[in-house]
Amino acid sequence: MAPLARSVLVTGSNRGIGLELVRQLAEMTDPPEHIFATCRNPEGPKGKALHDLADKHPNIHVIQLEVESQSSVESAVPAVESHLKGKGLNLLINNAGVNSYATLQTVERQEMLSAFNTNVVGPIFVVKEFVPLLRRAANEMGTEEMSCSKAAIINVTSKLASIERGFEVFHGPMYPYRASKVALNMVTVCLAMEMKADGILCTLIHPGWVKTDMGTDQAPMTVQDSVQSILKVLPTLSSSSTGAFLDWEGKRLPW
Ligand SMILES: NC(=O)c1ccc[n+]([C@@H]2O[C@H](COP(=O)([O-])OP(=O)(O)OC[C@H]3O[C@@H](n4cnc5c(N)ncnc54)[C@H](OP(=O)(O)O)[C@@H]3O)[C@@H](O)[C@H]2O)c1
Repeated sequence: MAPLARSVLVTGSNRGIGLELVRQLAEMTDPPEHIFATCRNPEGPKGKALHDLADKHPNIHVIQLEVESQSSVESAVPAVESHLKGKGLNLLINNAGVNSYATLQTVERQEMLSAFNTNVVGPIFVVKEFVPLLRRAANEMGTEEMSCSKAAIINVTSKLASIERGFEVFHGPMYPYRASKVALNMVTVCLAMEMKADGILCTLIHPGWVKTDMGTDQAPMTVQDSVQSILKVLPTLSSSSTGAFLDWEGKRLPW
C-alpha cells in the first residue's frame, strides 16, 4: 500500500489524539518519511511520552510549536524545512486545542479570547506560515486530484460545533469551545475555497468523543480506536471532500 503521505506535521502531539496520531503514523507498515511531531513544551515533563516515542522511530522529529505564538510558529518552519531537503510538506494536521465548559454565568472574557486564540487564530497562522511548503508539495505531484498524499490541511474540530445539532448536545453551552470550533469550521471552508487553485485539500474531522484529558474517562471511544479510524479516512479524501465536515468514520456532519 502507498504511504498516506511522505511528510506529516501534527500540532499538539505530546498527549491525547495528537500523540496517538504520531504513534500510529510511525507504526504504519509504510510510514511517512518525516513525521513532524510538534508541541509547545517538548523539553518539559509533558514532552516525555513524545520523546520516548521519537527515540524508537528516527522518522519522528520533535519540534517546538506553540500555536498562539507567532515567533514559535515562524521558527518551526525552517526547523521542518531542514529535514525536507527541498521537498514540500504533504499533510498538516491542526490538532492542538483547548476545551471549556463555561456557562453564561461562569464565562469570562479572557476564557473566550483564549479559546479563540488556540482553536481559531492558532490554526490560521500555522497554515499561513506553512502554506509555502504545502504549495511546494502540491506542485511536486503530477496529478490534478487532491489527496492527503499530495497536499492537505486537516483541522480537528468537534461535533459540538454543529449548529444544526446545537440542541442535541447535553454538555451545557460550553460557549468558548463551541463558538471557537464553529469559527474554525468557517475558517476551514474559507481555506478550502482559497486553496482550491493550489490543489490543497482542506477538511474538518471530528474525532468522536474520545478518552483523553479533554474527552475524560466518560468518553465511549478509546484514543486508539478514534485515531485508527481517522487514519483509514484520510487516504479516502479527495476533491469531493475539500471543505467538508466529517466524523472519524468519514461520514458528513450537518453544519
Ligand atoms: N477528546 C475528545 O473527545 C474530542 C472531541 C472532539 C474534538 N476534539 C478535538 O481533538 C483535538 C485533540 O484533543 P484531545 O482530546 O487530544 O485533547 P487533550 O488531550 O487535551 O490534548 C490537547 C493537546 O493540544 C495541545 N495544546 C493546547 N493548547 C496549545 C497551544 N496553544 N499550542 C500548542 N499546543 C497546544 C496540548 O498541549 P499541552 O500538553 O502543552 O497542554 C495537547 O497536546 C482538539 O482540537 C479537540 O478540540 C477532541
